[in-house]
Amino acid sequence: MEIVPLDSAEEVGALGADVVETAVRGRPGAVLGLATGSTPLPTYRELIRRHAAGSGPSYDAVRCFTLDEYVGLPAGHPESYRATIARELTDPLGIPAERVQGPSPDPGGLATAGERYEEALVAAGGIDLQILGIGSDGHLAFNEPGSSLASLTRIKTLTEETRRDNARFFGSVDDVPRHVLTQGLGTILRARHLLLLATGAAKAAALAAAVEGPVSASCPASVLQLHPHVTVLCDGAAAAGLARREHYREVYDAKPAWQGL
Ligand code: GLP
Repeated sequence: MEIVPLDSAEEVGALGADVVETAVRGRPGAVLGLATGSTPLPTYRELIRRHAAGSGPSYDAVRCFTLDEYVGLPAGHPESYRATIARELTDPLGIPAERVQGPSPDPGGLATAGERYEEALVAAGGIDLQILGIGSDGHLAFNEPGSSLASLTRIKTLTEETRRDNARFFGSVDDVPRHVLTQGLGTILRARHLLLLATGAAKAAALAAAVEGPVSASCPASVLQLHPHVTVLCDGAAAAGLARREHYREVYDAKPAWQGL
Protein backbone atom coordinates (compact mmCIF):
# COMPACT_ATOMS: atom_id res chain seq x y z
CA MET A 1 0.00 0.00 0.00
CA GLU A 2 1.31 3.42 -0.91
CA ILE A 3 0.10 6.30 1.25
CA VAL A 4 0.68 9.82 -0.01
CA PRO A 5 0.00 12.59 2.53
CA LEU A 6 -0.61 15.86 0.67
CA ASP A 7 -1.20 19.44 1.79
CA SER A 8 -4.76 20.02 0.64
CA ALA A 9 -7.88 18.53 -0.90
CA GLU A 10 -6.99 20.39 -4.12
CA GLU A 11 -3.65 18.57 -4.26
CA VAL A 12 -5.47 15.27 -3.69
CA GLY A 13 -7.74 16.22 -6.61
CA ALA A 14 -4.84 17.07 -8.92
CA LEU A 15 -2.87 13.91 -8.16
CA GLY A 16 -6.06 11.83 -8.24
CA ALA A 17 -6.73 13.18 -11.75
CA ASP A 18 -3.16 12.26 -12.75
CA VAL A 19 -3.76 8.66 -11.63
CA VAL A 20 -7.02 8.40 -13.60
CA GLU A 21 -5.46 9.94 -16.71
CA THR A 22 -2.47 7.60 -16.51
CA ALA A 23 -4.84 4.60 -16.43
CA VAL A 24 -6.78 5.89 -19.44
CA ARG A 25 -3.66 6.76 -21.44
CA GLY A 26 -2.19 3.34 -20.65
CA ARG A 27 -5.31 1.57 -21.89
CA PRO A 28 -7.75 3.60 -24.02
CA GLY A 29 -10.51 1.05 -23.30
CA ALA A 30 -9.85 1.28 -19.56
CA VAL A 31 -12.61 0.22 -17.18
CA LEU A 32 -13.02 2.74 -14.38
CA GLY A 33 -14.84 2.13 -11.10
CA LEU A 34 -16.39 5.35 -9.83
CA ALA A 35 -17.21 6.35 -6.27
CA THR A 36 -19.67 9.07 -5.32
CA GLY A 37 -19.69 11.26 -2.19
CA SER A 38 -17.93 14.58 -1.71
CA THR A 39 -14.35 13.33 -1.58
CA PRO A 40 -13.80 12.46 -5.27
CA LEU A 41 -15.35 15.74 -6.49
CA PRO A 42 -12.06 17.73 -6.68
CA THR A 43 -10.60 14.85 -8.73
CA TYR A 44 -13.64 14.75 -11.01
CA ARG A 45 -13.64 18.54 -11.44
CA GLU A 46 -9.95 18.49 -12.33
CA LEU A 47 -10.52 15.74 -14.92
CA ILE A 48 -13.36 17.79 -16.44
CA ARG A 49 -11.25 20.97 -16.43
CA ARG A 50 -8.40 19.23 -18.25
CA HIS A 51 -10.81 17.58 -20.70
CA ALA A 52 -12.40 20.96 -21.50
CA ALA A 53 -8.95 22.51 -21.91
CA GLY A 54 -8.01 19.79 -24.38
CA SER A 55 -5.14 18.40 -22.31
CA GLY A 56 -6.90 15.24 -21.06
CA PRO A 57 -6.85 11.79 -22.69
CA SER A 58 -9.57 10.53 -25.01
CA TYR A 59 -12.47 8.93 -23.15
CA ASP A 60 -13.96 7.54 -26.37
CA ALA A 61 -13.49 3.89 -25.39
CA VAL A 62 -13.57 4.16 -21.59
CA ARG A 63 -16.20 2.16 -19.72
CA CYS A 64 -17.38 2.94 -16.19
CA PHE A 65 -19.01 1.13 -13.32
CA THR A 66 -20.56 2.93 -10.38
CA LEU A 67 -19.56 1.38 -7.10
CA ASP A 68 -22.89 1.33 -5.29
CA GLU A 69 -26.46 2.61 -5.46
CA TYR A 70 -29.37 3.54 -3.24
CA VAL A 71 -32.43 1.29 -3.26
CA GLY A 72 -35.90 2.80 -3.12
CA LEU A 73 -35.40 6.17 -4.81
CA PRO A 74 -37.74 7.05 -7.68
CA ALA A 75 -36.11 6.39 -11.09
CA GLY A 76 -33.95 9.32 -12.17
CA HIS A 77 -33.78 10.82 -8.63
CA PRO A 78 -30.96 13.42 -8.68
CA GLU A 79 -29.27 11.81 -5.65
CA SER A 80 -29.21 8.33 -7.17
CA TYR A 81 -25.57 7.46 -7.74
CA ARG A 82 -26.29 6.82 -11.40
CA ALA A 83 -27.57 10.40 -11.83
CA THR A 84 -24.81 11.81 -9.62
CA ILE A 85 -21.98 10.22 -11.60
CA ALA A 86 -23.53 11.34 -14.90
CA ARG A 87 -23.80 14.91 -13.62
CA GLU A 88 -20.46 15.13 -11.81
CA LEU A 89 -18.23 13.24 -14.24
CA THR A 90 -19.29 11.11 -17.16
CA ASP A 91 -21.59 13.58 -19.01
CA PRO A 92 -18.99 16.39 -18.85
CA LEU A 93 -16.32 13.94 -20.09
CA GLY A 94 -18.57 12.91 -22.98
CA ILE A 95 -18.90 9.29 -21.83
CA PRO A 96 -22.36 8.15 -22.99
CA ALA A 97 -24.83 6.55 -20.54
CA GLU A 98 -24.59 3.16 -22.27
CA ARG A 99 -20.93 2.94 -21.23
CA VAL A 100 -21.75 3.59 -17.57
CA GLN A 101 -23.26 0.76 -15.58
CA GLY A 102 -24.24 0.37 -11.95
CA PRO A 103 -26.01 -2.16 -9.75
CA SER A 104 -29.66 -1.88 -10.79
CA PRO A 105 -32.07 -0.84 -8.00
CA ASP A 106 -35.09 -1.83 -10.12
CA PRO A 107 -37.49 -3.21 -7.45
CA GLY A 108 -38.44 -6.23 -9.59
CA GLY A 109 -34.88 -7.50 -9.85
CA LEU A 110 -33.26 -6.83 -6.49
CA ALA A 111 -32.71 -10.50 -5.66
CA THR A 112 -30.45 -10.95 -8.70
CA ALA A 113 -29.08 -7.39 -9.08
CA GLY A 114 -25.78 -8.20 -7.38
CA GLU A 115 -25.19 -11.30 -9.45
CA ARG A 116 -25.99 -9.48 -12.71
CA TYR A 117 -23.65 -6.64 -11.81
CA GLU A 118 -20.85 -9.10 -11.00
CA GLU A 119 -21.41 -10.78 -14.39
CA ALA A 120 -21.19 -7.42 -16.14
CA LEU A 121 -17.89 -6.69 -14.37
CA VAL A 122 -16.46 -10.01 -15.52
CA ALA A 123 -17.75 -9.47 -19.10
CA ALA A 124 -16.00 -6.07 -19.16
CA GLY A 125 -12.72 -7.74 -18.18
CA GLY A 126 -12.72 -6.38 -14.63
CA ILE A 127 -12.01 -2.90 -13.32
CA ASP A 128 -8.62 -1.38 -14.12
CA LEU A 129 -8.83 1.50 -11.65
CA GLN A 130 -11.33 1.68 -8.80
CA ILE A 131 -11.74 5.07 -7.12
CA LEU A 132 -12.83 4.82 -3.48
CA GLY A 133 -13.70 7.05 -0.56
CA ILE A 134 -13.97 6.02 3.07
CA GLY A 135 -16.88 6.47 5.47
CA SER A 136 -16.37 8.02 8.89
CA ASP A 137 -17.17 4.55 10.33
CA GLY A 138 -14.57 2.92 8.08
CA HIS A 139 -17.04 1.77 5.44
CA LEU A 140 -15.88 1.15 1.92
CA ALA A 141 -18.45 1.64 -0.85
CA PHE A 142 -21.54 0.81 1.29
CA ASN A 143 -19.93 -2.10 3.14
CA GLU A 144 -20.66 -1.17 6.72
CA PRO A 145 -18.72 -2.53 9.73
CA GLY A 146 -19.31 -6.26 10.02
CA SER A 147 -19.36 -6.83 6.24
CA SER A 148 -17.64 -9.99 5.09
CA LEU A 149 -14.17 -9.32 3.75
CA ALA A 150 -14.99 -11.78 0.92
CA SER A 151 -18.43 -10.32 0.07
CA LEU A 152 -19.66 -9.73 -3.48
CA THR A 153 -22.23 -7.23 -4.75
CA ARG A 154 -25.46 -7.46 -2.76
CA ILE A 155 -28.13 -5.51 -0.92
CA LYS A 156 -27.12 -3.97 2.43
CA THR A 157 -28.68 -1.87 5.17
CA LEU A 158 -27.04 1.45 6.09
CA THR A 159 -26.03 2.36 9.63
CA GLU A 160 -27.58 5.40 11.28
CA GLU A 161 -24.13 7.08 11.16
CA THR A 162 -23.93 6.73 7.37
CA ARG A 163 -27.51 7.89 6.90
CA ARG A 164 -26.76 10.96 9.04
CA ASP A 165 -23.51 11.59 7.09
CA ASN A 166 -25.44 11.43 3.80
CA ALA A 167 -28.46 13.46 4.98
CA ARG A 168 -26.78 16.59 3.58
CA PHE A 169 -27.60 15.36 0.07
CA PHE A 170 -31.28 14.77 0.86
CA GLY A 171 -32.41 17.56 3.20
CA SER A 172 -33.29 15.23 6.08
CA VAL A 173 -32.03 11.95 7.45
CA ASP A 174 -35.53 10.51 7.05
CA ASP A 175 -35.23 10.89 3.28
CA VAL A 176 -31.98 8.87 3.08
CA PRO A 177 -32.78 5.35 1.89
CA ARG A 178 -32.13 2.52 4.34
CA HIS A 179 -31.09 0.02 1.72
CA VAL A 180 -28.40 0.04 -0.94
CA LEU A 181 -26.71 -2.19 -3.48
CA THR A 182 -22.96 -2.20 -3.16
CA GLN A 183 -19.90 -3.88 -4.54
CA GLY A 184 -18.69 -6.26 -1.87
CA LEU A 185 -15.27 -6.06 -0.29
CA GLY A 186 -14.30 -9.15 -2.30
CA THR A 187 -15.49 -7.38 -5.47
CA ILE A 188 -13.36 -4.35 -4.67
CA LEU A 189 -10.31 -6.57 -4.16
CA ARG A 190 -10.70 -7.84 -7.77
CA ALA A 191 -9.96 -4.43 -9.32
CA ARG A 192 -6.39 -4.15 -10.57
CA HIS A 193 -5.59 -0.81 -8.93
CA LEU A 194 -7.41 0.82 -6.00
CA LEU A 195 -7.26 4.57 -5.47
CA LEU A 196 -8.53 5.61 -2.04
CA LEU A 197 -9.13 9.33 -1.54
CA ALA A 198 -9.54 10.74 1.98
CA THR A 199 -9.82 14.39 2.99
CA GLY A 200 -10.85 16.24 6.14
CA ALA A 201 -10.54 15.63 9.86
CA ALA A 202 -13.74 13.54 9.97
CA LYS A 203 -11.85 10.78 8.12
CA ALA A 204 -8.67 10.76 10.26
CA ALA A 205 -9.67 7.98 12.68
CA ALA A 206 -11.17 5.77 9.98
CA LEU A 207 -8.14 6.18 7.72
CA ALA A 208 -5.70 5.33 10.53
CA ALA A 209 -7.72 2.24 11.45
CA ALA A 210 -7.91 1.19 7.80
CA VAL A 211 -4.23 1.42 6.95
CA GLU A 212 -2.45 0.95 10.29
CA GLY A 213 -4.96 -1.09 12.31
CA PRO A 214 -5.70 -4.79 12.11
CA VAL A 215 -7.47 -6.27 9.08
CA SER A 216 -10.95 -6.69 10.43
CA ALA A 217 -14.57 -6.65 9.31
CA SER A 218 -15.04 -4.06 12.08
CA CYS A 219 -13.19 -1.63 9.80
CA PRO A 220 -14.20 -2.65 6.26
CA ALA A 221 -11.62 -0.37 4.62
CA SER A 222 -8.86 -2.36 6.33
CA VAL A 223 -9.44 -4.97 3.60
CA LEU A 224 -7.30 -2.72 1.40
CA GLN A 225 -4.26 -4.12 3.22
CA LEU A 226 -4.88 -7.40 1.35
CA HIS A 227 -4.64 -5.83 -2.13
CA PRO A 228 -1.31 -5.71 -3.99
CA HIS A 229 -1.80 -2.25 -5.58
CA VAL A 230 -3.43 0.42 -3.44
CA THR A 231 -2.72 4.14 -3.63
CA VAL A 232 -4.05 6.30 -0.79
CA LEU A 233 -4.12 10.06 -1.39
CA CYS A 234 -4.99 12.08 1.71
CA ASP A 235 -4.79 15.68 2.90
CA GLY A 236 -3.12 16.74 6.16
CA ALA A 237 -6.34 16.64 8.17
CA ALA A 238 -7.19 13.07 7.10
CA ALA A 239 -3.57 11.98 7.64
CA ALA A 240 -3.45 13.40 11.19
CA GLY A 241 -4.05 10.02 12.87
CA LEU A 242 -1.38 8.11 10.91
CA ALA A 243 1.55 7.12 13.14
CA ARG A 244 3.91 6.81 10.15
CA ARG A 245 2.73 9.79 8.11
CA GLU A 246 6.17 11.42 7.95
CA HIS A 247 7.70 8.21 6.70
CA TYR A 248 5.00 7.87 4.00
CA ARG A 249 5.78 11.36 2.78
CA GLU A 250 9.55 10.65 2.76
CA VAL A 251 8.93 7.55 0.69
CA TYR A 252 6.82 9.51 -1.79
CA ASP A 253 9.36 12.35 -2.04
CA ALA A 254 12.19 9.86 -2.67
CA LYS A 255 10.25 7.89 -5.25
CA PRO A 256 11.85 7.62 -8.71
CA ALA A 257 9.62 9.43 -11.24
CA TRP A 258 9.56 6.41 -13.58
CA GLN A 259 7.76 4.34 -10.98
CA GLY A 260 4.53 6.34 -11.05
CA LEU A 261 1.70 5.57 -8.65
C1 GLP B 1 -20.77 7.15 0.88
C2 GLP B 1 -20.48 6.26 -0.36
C3 GLP B 1 -19.04 5.87 -0.40
C4 GLP B 1 -18.22 7.09 -0.03
C5 GLP B 1 -18.40 7.40 1.43
C6 GLP B 1 -17.75 8.69 1.86
O1 GLP B 1 -21.83 6.80 1.62
N1 GLP B 1 -21.28 5.13 -0.53
O2 GLP B 1 -18.72 5.37 -1.68
O3 GLP B 1 -16.85 6.85 -0.26
O4 GLP B 1 -19.73 7.31 1.81
O5 GLP B 1 -18.45 9.80 1.37
P1 GLP B 1 -17.83 11.26 1.36
O6 GLP B 1 -16.75 11.26 0.35
O7 GLP B 1 -18.97 12.15 0.96
O8 GLP B 1 -17.35 11.54 2.72
